[in-house]
Amino acid sequence: MDTNLHIPESVAIIMDGNGRWAKKRGLPRTMGHKEGCSAIERLLPEASDLGIRYLTVYAFSTENWKRSAEEVDGLMQLFRFYAGRLLRSAREKNVRVRMIGDRRRFQPDIVASINRLEEETKDNTGMTFIVAANYGGRDEIRRAVMRYAEDYKAGRVPADAFAGPDAGYPAGELTERGFASYLDMPDVPDPDLLIRTSGELRLSNFLVWEAAYSEIVVTDTLWPDFDREELLRCIDEFNHRSRRFGGV
Ligand code: FPP
Repeated sequence: MDTNLHIPESVAIIMDGNGRWAKKRGLPRTMGHKEGCSAIERLLPEASDLGIRYLTVYAFSTENWKRSAEEVDGLMQLFRFYAGRLLRSAREKNVRVRMIGDRRRFQPDIVASINRLEEETKDNTGMTFIVAANYGGRDEIRRAVMRYAEDYKAGRVPADAFAGPDAGYPAGELTERGFASYLDMPDVPDPDLLIRTSGELRLSNFLVWEAAYSEIVVTDTLWPDFDREELLRCIDEFNHRSRRFGGV
């Protein structure tokens, strides 16, 4: 592997394979999620030390509510348990924690701990760790459209959200940047690298807008087994891609 790796600024991960990890061991699926949480805990300081500036992980999708009550409840208990531990490791590593997704559907105590994590780490200047919870890319766009429509009605859309003469489309139309300012985290750069574990070749409604030009690397490793070495292998593959963003 190249020892002089260029570290991408913004990395996103679809942490898949917890269920399969558990099944292989004859354990309940929730044990796979618990190991998945430990994998995040181990990876956080490594990612920060490598110099990644933004790390976004897909913790719970808008579709995950369809899983059994037992599994959903197990995941909620893990959120509760790991929120405190995450706060401690974020403090240690100067990491800022943020959340994307619609938190209104969570129990009030979970919303409170998400708010606390964000509030107490907001001045940290190291890596930003973004947890996508009750997140769906389509849902994020839907909520953005609703916020935009409200602002439009109230005459609150900033003038620079509309196209000038050189936009490539008629002046006065909403620009992509203008629209993106209504998404959940407009100040976070789009992921350069999007990693999916456990071999599936889908986006699964993750960062539908933001991943338009992300390099996608899929590894067969199940999420609980994902570690620094595996992250470096993904970054190495990223380093061999040629990014043209639609140019030549
Ligand atoms: C996919 O594995 C994983 C999830 C649906 C949840 C991932 C969540 C965590 C690792 C916990 C995150 C928690 C915090 C506190 C940040 P799967 O169940 O779809 O696996 P399978 O495809 O093998 O069944």
